[in-house]
Amino acid sequence: MYGNTAKWAALLALGCGVAWLTTGGVGAQPLDPTIKPLPKRTAEEWRKLYPFQSVADRLAYEAEPAEKALPPVLSPEATKTLVETELAYKGGRFGDVRRESLKKLHSAEVEDFIKRDGFGLSRLPTPSPRFLELAKAPTFPFGSVGYPDSALAGDPPVTLPEKGAGLVGEAKMPSREGLANLHSLSRYSFLQSGSLGYVRKHQEVAGFEPHAFRFEPSLSGVPVLNHQVEKGAEASKERWVLRKLELVGMVKHEKPMAYVSGQLPRMEDLKNAPTRELDAFEAAAIRRLQGGEDVATEETLNRIRLVGAVRANNACLDCHNVKRGQLLGAFSYELLRDPLTKK
Ligand code: HEC
Repeated sequence: MYGNTAKWAALLALGCGVAWLTTGGVGAQPLDPTIKPLPKRTAEEWRKLYPFQSVADRLAYEAEPAEKALPPVLSPEATKTLVETELAYKGGRFGDVRRESLKKLHSAEVEDFIKRDGFGLSRLPTPSPRFLELAKAPTFPFGSVGYPDSALAGDPPVTLPEKGAGLVGEAKMPSREGLANLHSLSRYSFLQSGSLGYVRKHQEVAGFEPHAFRFEPSLSGVPVLNHQVEKGAEASKERWVLRKLELVGMVKHEKPMAYVSGQLPRMEDLKNAPTRELDAFEAAAIRRLQGGEDVATEETLNRIRLVGAVRANNACLDCHNVKRGQLLGAFSYELLRDPLTKK
């Protein structure tokens, strides 16, 4: 199923749902009495909350390289993913509801717009001040496992199954397809379309929120964080736990560098975070992504490392001065099986 539009529809619904739940509290139930009434504000008051701002100084480091950079190389699979991602960012026929709301706020129709509550008879959300607010991105500390690193010494090499949901084959590994889906979800969580705001002109951006994970990614529907702290029967089941997911910045520094953090990346925190050089696996993986692949892995029976591409699609070019398809970043993952298996 990886790569088809149904997946993106699901992602979109998810993205929308997140924005939706945080604004109204209840999602797609138009007549729910618990929906809070909108605060009474004038157009000017609303606009002051979501003014046009420039992000130019924050991206000044991109001023030079764009022209000089060679066109990015993309495998057919990576091209397909890019095209599908772009469709998802457009938000279909109705657009992304937060972006459309910001657009109306800064349009001549603002007086009509501020009267709308966004939950008419239609089940589809229509632009409304209700969708302007975006919940603060939560903090997602990395997961942990119940054994020390030394237990992984001599972990035997394995080959990942190509396809299938859940844990596949005798060794009960996630498939390449499943891992690629995990990476798609992570990318979308970090760069949800609504969080990008409304870009009227290159340097006039309203409602932009710094990139940050907004929901916990999952592997075939199973959450990958917090395994050890979960209570109850579920916690005893075998799981793959996300022990690390770090952002590799591809543009800001002279060479690719990883931002060091103990939680899923949030740009706001990474501004002051230390960076480190890539290790041998990561450096080789980045070269594979530059050669056109989207996901590179290295696996043993109880540990999977993965580096996944974060490429610029059309929606990103509103702010980022790079070429379409170029790597803006990458995520470097470490997943551990818990409990450990010896076979
Ligand atoms: C509305 C403007 C805007 C849009 C659209 C946007 N970004 Fe960004 N992005 C920024 C800013 C600003 C920064 C610098 C960090 C900060 O100030 O928050 C940034 C930083 C990044 C970084 C970190 C780079 C580094 O080396 O530190 C990555 C990766 C990134 N963006 C990827 C993307 C991708 C992929 C898209 C499209 C899906 C995208 N961005 C769309 C504004 C934007």
